[in-house]
Amino acid sequence: MFDHIDHYPGDPILSLAQAYLRDPCPEKVNLGIGMYYDEAGRTPMLEAVQGAKAILAADLEVTGIDKDVAGYLPMEGCPEYRHAIQCLLFGEDSSAVEGGRIATIQTLGGSGALKVGADLLKQFFPSSEVWVSQPTWDNHQALFAGAGFKVNGYPYYDRSRGGIVFDEMTRVLRSLPAQSIVLMHPCCHNPTGADLTRRQWQEVIDVIAARGLIPFLDIAYQGLGEDLEGDAHVIRSMAVAGIRFLVANSFSKNLALYGERCGGLSVVCQDAEEASRVLGQLKATVRKNYSSPPTYGARLAATVLSNAELKRLWKEELDAMRARIQRMRGRLCHALASRMPMHDFSYLIRQRGMFSYTNLTVAQIDQLREDYSVYLVRSGRLCLTGLNDRNVDYVAEAIATVVGRA
Ligand code: LMR
Repeated sequence: MFDHIDHYPGDPILSLAQAYLRDPCPEKVNLGIGMYYDEAGRTPMLEAVQGAKAILAADLEVTGIDKDVAGYLPMEGCPEYRHAIQCLLFGEDSSAVEGGRIATIQTLGGSGALKVGADLLKQFFPSSEVWVSQPTWDNHQALFAGAGFKVNGYPYYDRSRGGIVFDEMTRVLRSLPAQSIVLMHPCCHNPTGADLTRRQWQEVIDVIAARGLIPFLDIAYQGLGEDLEGDAHVIRSMAVAGIRFLVANSFSKNLALYGERCGGLSVVCQDAEEASRVLGQLKATVRKNYSSPPTYGARLAATVLSNAELKRLWKEELDAMRARIQRMRGRLCHALASRMPMHDFSYLIRQRGMFSYTNLTVAQIDQLREDYSVYLVRSGRLCLTGLNDRNVDYVAEAIATVVGRA
């Protein structure tokens, strides 16, 4: 009966993470999956999250009701969590939030938000096509194609400079038909680490408005580029410009809540009436997929975001994570430059977030993994959080060797 079901070759990122775990080499270095690791190579449990756990445990003690299992959340998720997402993305004083013109639902991580958004768009814009940056997160293509869309690429990354081919990008955006869906990364571009400047974003917003495009912003690394506010700049500018758009967000990385799958999907509408219709359809989409989201992670996130002391603590912890990544960027740049002085690695320092894009070939990346147990995604993406003071020279030496120090 199942003879025609093909073998699944695995996911380029998630399967690599499993392979890393299986590798017995004591020197192994994980520069593959986009997760934050501290200097000791551990995924930290944030103090702000521990504080939230204590508050929820105390609540259980007092009420005797385990809110995580005692009932279902509504299809759209936990109300406090949804409100906290709106304030974080759009700002505490956002007139769009105030005016009720954003429909936000809790989702199963950022991927869940993209999937629900993709399903909604396919239902109401069946003939639109999707445009993603070249390159983009490996799963974007699969996810939108899986929802039934034709997925195309717009020019984005300039390999020779480690920057952005902005003129080519906007030339393509200007040529798209109205209601084309354009997937963009508000900060910490995955996989390249190359972000648009604020001036460039303004130009993109002007093109989007003029062409009637549908932006879908995927923000999975808020707080790890500039800071929580700065990383949300384009989201807030689009809302102020009166554009209608979608935003997928995730707390996997910035709250280190990976396994809790805490995400959100927000659809910015023209007015509250439109937002209420969109919210209804989002709920219908959720019901068709998984009925309603789980409780605990959303309550944790909502507690951190709504408690002034925990939020302050969280911001401090995020500052420290960001500073560590930036320091590792500097250390890797220096370690590579001293081994390969003919090359310019300064792009590593200019880029933002967890990732950078190497110009390594697939064969070189395979050799890094096989000979040195240094794991990079085969696209060439390198996640800087796996670096620390103990392994950065080992990694630089391995890279210099596989490229022949050329
Ligand atoms: C990544 O890009 O490595 C992470 O977002 C994990 C994933 O799901 O791919």
